[in-house]
Amino acid sequence: MTIDPILIERTVSAFRRVHGRVPDLVSFAPGRVNLIGEHTDYNDGLAMPCALAVGTLVALGLRSDKRIEANALDLGNASASFGLGSYIPRQENGDWENHLRGIVAGMPRFDLPISGANIVLSGNIPQGSGLSSSASLGVALALGLSALSGEASPDRLALARVAQWSEHEFVGCACGLMDQLASVFGEQDQALLLDCRTLAVRHVPFPADATIMIVHSGVTRGLVDSAYNERRLQCAHAAKHYHLGALRDLDLDALRAGRGELDETVFRRARHVVTENARVLEAAQAMRESDLVSLGRAMFASHVSLRDDFEVSLPAIDTLVECLTEAIGINGGARMTGGGFGGCVVAVLPQNRVSTVQEALSAHWRQHGMEQQMVMVATPATGAHLVSGW
Ligand code: GLA
Repeated sequence: MTIDPILIERTVSAFRRVHGRVPDLVSFAPGRVNLIGEHTDYNDGLAMPCALAVGTLVALGLRSDKRIEANALDLGNASASFGLGSYIPRQENGDWENHLRGIVAGMPRFDLPISGANIVLSGNIPQGSGLSSSASLGVALALGLSALSGEASPDRLALARVAQWSEHEFVGCACGLMDQLASVFGEQDQALLLDCRTLAVRHVPFPADATIMIVHSGVTRGLVDSAYNERRLQCAHAAKHYHLGALRDLDLDALRAGRGELDETVFRRARHVVTENARVLEAAQAMRESDLVSLGRAMFASHVSLRDDFEVSLPAIDTLVECLTEAIGINGGARMTGGGFGGCVVAVLPQNRVSTVQEALSAHWRQHGMEQQMVMVATPATGAHLVSGW
């Protein structure tokens, strides 16, 4: 996979400028797009994301004084400075710095080594797109800090887990593990079938003549942690109602039979999770058979369920999904992707339909009086790694 050379050049030369020497190493972790399996990960369920070629790059240099000195290039070169004491506090309104503090504080808990470091970081995931810039930041930092401290091949699962821990404890989002797993375990041309209970990662070959298209809805994802955490609580509530540890163990018949006095909204949340797990398996099978018709059908059904049962879509996203679904035709499909409430729509389509679909998108934006939005044509990319040859 090729990381954009401009990103590498920008980050490494900023490191030189700030620290007067070249970095000791450079790490990269990708963002992800989820093809199907939304809001299932924290229900011990199934998801099928893949890693992207965009992500976060971190340049690091060893320090001997047990301090972390960091600069975030994309945030006006914002800086952070703190010691590696036994207690690293979370900062009120710390934003990006809490991502860093969370990783640094979490490394020892996951048996990952940590030492003093100079850090410069930068990324090329469009802001507010819902393509997991925060998971990519966390994983890139965990990998880079571990390698800098002498462990260049750390336990991959520990990298995902520390990044999730940091989100929970320092950033304030009770996310599942999907984004971090995708960032760590991504592979070229493979979607990842994740079992978020066993943490088994199976690779599913992405059809050779198909491509992924990621289209921004024009609505920035932001300040959505409270809605996300509320969905998570509703799912836990439903699991409790059915006397289960997690909604993963529920099927449609049991869902209906045991409904009793369960609140209507909570019932629909649970129904989304149950049906979505089944759709992930259908989609994985369709992908193995290069059956874009069935894959597209599962993707659209996933969207409808997220829109009507889980209620995390928005009108702007729904109309975009409809536009893409119509332009793509039966070979492929589209759906909202990620946590919801803004960000991107993902589509899978035959490569030879890309330009037709792009024309349909331009017409859609003209019709809605909108500017042209980001369109990314992608195939599954490699997971987190150390970068050589810069
Ligand atoms: C966010 C979270 C993930 C997952 C998705 C929804 O991206 O970080 O853990 O729950 O939302 O599928």
